[in-house]
Amino acid sequence: MAQATFHFPRGFLWGTATASHQVEGNNTNNNWWAWEQRDGHIVENQKSGLADDWWNGRWREDFDRAAESGQNAHRLSIEWSRIQPTPDRWDESALDRYREMLRGLTERGMTPMVTLHHFTDPQWLGERGGWENRSTPEAFTTFVNRAVEALREYANLWVTINEPNVLVTSAYFMGIWPPGKSDLRAAFNVMENLVRAHAMAYQAIHELQPDARVGIAINYRGFIPARNWFLPDRWIAGLQNSLFNEFFPNALSSGVLRYPLWSRRMTEARGTQDFLGLNYYTREYIAFSPFQAAEMFARRFYLPGADLSPSGFIVNAPEGMFQALKWARKFNRPILITENGVEDKEDQLRPRYLIQHLHQVWRAVNFNFPIKGYFHWTLVDNFEWERGWTQRFGLWELDPETQTRTRRPSAELYAEICRENGISSDMVARYAPKIFDKLFPN
Ligand code: FCB
Repeated sequence: MAQATFHFPRGFLWGTATASHQVEGNNTNNNWWAWEQRDGHIVENQKSGLADDWWNGRWREDFDRAAESGQNAHRLSIEWSRIQPTPDRWDESALDRYREMLRGLTERGMTPMVTLHHFTDPQWLGERGGWENRSTPEAFTTFVNRAVEALREYANLWVTINEPNVLVTSAYFMGIWPPGKSDLRAAFNVMENLVRAHAMAYQAIHELQPDARVGIAINYRGFIPARNWFLPDRWIAGLQNSLFNEFFPNALSSGVLRYPLWSRRMTEARGTQDFLGLNYYTREYIAFSPFQAAEMFARRFYLPGADLSPSGFIVNAPEGMFQALKWARKFNRPILITENGVEDKEDQLRPRYLIQHLHQVWRAVNFNFPIKGYFHWTLVDNFEWERGWTQRFGLWELDPETQTRTRRPSAELYAEICRENGISSDMVARYAPKIFDKLFPN
């Protein structure tokens, strides 16, 4: 049997990613909490509730888990609605708590990466029109100033906005997230405000912390034309690619907002990304569908027989990771994989998903792509937005009732990878024997 190890560069960051609303619990003052109280918004009307109970201190035991598993970094987010509970009040004790958490990471030898906006807004922001309001970028920057000033001692890696493309699509186009709108004009308007908010926050952070590294995390989805010979399929795949994948990173590098039929300059956005944060989960096929205006004339699907996650949410398409990285490279910035993972309660698919995706990352590293780290989504099962608790992405399983954590085999596997700074043939043989020959052909 072949013996080999795929080594990663020295200093590579290995971690997991989390988000405040999904793990803290009792985030009663944000728009998601309010949204969860209304029937029909979340699968089976489930609620975030206590989530992973981090706000009461369970972050300690989870950070221990991460550190003991060889992780040397962690990406978390801070909750605007806790830090600024009303427009004119700042909660110093919330900032203290975050300081303590970040210190907790550094004391455990982990590099913190902080996300400043991960989908949730204070309720008072929603009452003022949320991201449709032209003054929201200023409000966001005021919050960022305050937060970064308080936390800069412990962190210098910042994600301003997590997945602005998913936020716009889900909250303003599909209407399945708060504020529940399906309005193309509103969506375009929000896109512009998000770019401006990022650009302003970028400048503010650099003024407070000259050595800061600031970026966004973009959710990259591969769109493959269903019939490559059929021009409308190619056109619709290209359109989705340019709006969903390209719009934000492109605006931050060129300072141009490119909409389908027009473009607009926003010079202050130009050159405002120090790294590209890439969230990659899956890719899909796409066909032109004239009757699906609400879906932007696209029918999206996975191929029959695809290697699907239990709820059919994600298809295991590791080549898509390589493609995503190739795409990300064109922005000429260091790349951090800020999220990647799969929902899989029984941990049947996750070991091979993890190995195969990291194998593609390793391939890209060997082509000298400037990839600096990988954050698996996620450490412990947590509240998955409109899908509630039905999807389990954790390396550790959580029973939200008892708050008991149980290690899944993938947690062991990931620990071995982090400690080795590589993937060995021996690990593949033990955790995912089915794909051994694919990775180490004879
Ligand atoms: C990403 C989100 C993250 C989590 C994963 C599964 O789109 O950024 O919060 O929900 O999906």
